[in-house]
Amino acid sequence: MIVTLSDRRMKIFLTGAYGQVGWELNRTLLPYGEIYACDRDTLDLLDASEVRRVVRDFGPSVIINSAAYTAVDRAESDRDLCDGLNISVPGVLAEEAERLGAWMVHFSSDYVFNGKNDRPWTEDDAPEPVNYYGRSKLGGDIAVMKNASRYIIFRTSWVYAARGSNFILSMLRLFAQKDELRIVDDQIGAPTWARYIAQSVAMALRQVFDGDGASLSGVYNLVAAGRASWYNFARAIRDYAGGFAGVNLAPVSSDEYQTAAARPKWSVLSTEKIQRVFGVYPPYWMDSMKLCIDEIIERQRTK
Ligand SMILES: NC(=O)c1ccc[n+]([C@@H]2O[C@H](COP(=O)([O-])OP(=O)(O)OC[C@H]3O[C@@H](n4cnc5c(N)ncnc54)[C@H](OP(=O)(O)O)[C@@H]3O)[C@@H](O)[C@H]2O)c1
Repeated sequence: MIVTLSDRRMKIFLTGAYGQVGWELNRTLLPYGEIYACDRDTLDLLDASEVRRVVRDFGPSVIINSAAYTAVDRAESDRDLCDGLNISVPGVLAEEAERLGAWMVHFSSDYVFNGKNDRPWTEDDAPEPVNYYGRSKLGGDIAVMKNASRYIIFRTSWVYAARGSNFILSMLRLFAQKDELRIVDDQIGAPTWARYIAQSVAMALRQVFDGDGASLSGVYNLVAAGRASWYNFARAIRDYAGGFAGVNLAPVSSDEYQTAAARPKWSVLSTEKIQRVFGVYPPYWMDSMKLCIDEIIERQRTK
């Protein structure tokens, strides 16, 4: 088949445009075609009939759902809203993608796993969430797989960005207020920059559109390389940001730091598949953390 230039132009329907990942996607995907980016103010995703109407009017070739209910502890007591955002919404969007012959792109979480492992989780490992958020994310994955025949689910972890709500920004705020912080040291994962996620999604989408798309459908782990505990992550932030050498960080166990939702102890994901299939090579977590902190400091300097 001869691909014309117009075939390569994407029509992208993007949800969660002001979230960490959505914000980066909205910028990274600019050269790929036309983007319809919506946030809560422009489209309430819980209004399924309105969502279907807006999607059909736009007629995308790709639907990217980066919106989600991401408050892990609050999810334990806010289950209906969590299920609505994390299960029903991706289900509706996947149905619409199927109806239009479009691709469905969705994001999953390391929290679908139970944390009991001694090697990085692969895409084929059996999920067994230990908290409600993880259960809802797994429900969303299943809804996408059931309703769309052409989908990519990127499974990521410990996401941060220069804006939004995340561990780096929380630490920088707390370092300025406290002399000592207790940080959990027995949960291990890969802190992952939202910009790297967006760039990787763009690389994958280009290949899906240019190549034998259908065979690329599936779940792909998408996280930074290496591993860290929250304590390791906090130390790296403190040491790189500068000016906070006087803040003492004390490692504690999950038992000593109780939260409403249980957390998996081992959240490291294997990226072998995304490297092999899409040629996406993850940066070492601390290298991308430094780039993000540079951006945060630069923003504060020029504010
Ligand atoms: N953050 C992590 O550490 C992490 C880890 C693993 C996987 N993930 C997954 O990665 C994806 C992106 O996460 P993220 O960190 O970018 O999330 P995020 O920053 O929390 O953004 C989620 C977005 O969804 C929007 N949203 C929520 N309810 C909505 C509604 N009713 N209508 C329209 N929009 C609504 C939010 O809008 P408001 O700001 O107005 O609420 C927000 O912009 C999600 O699927 C998440 O589950 C995240």
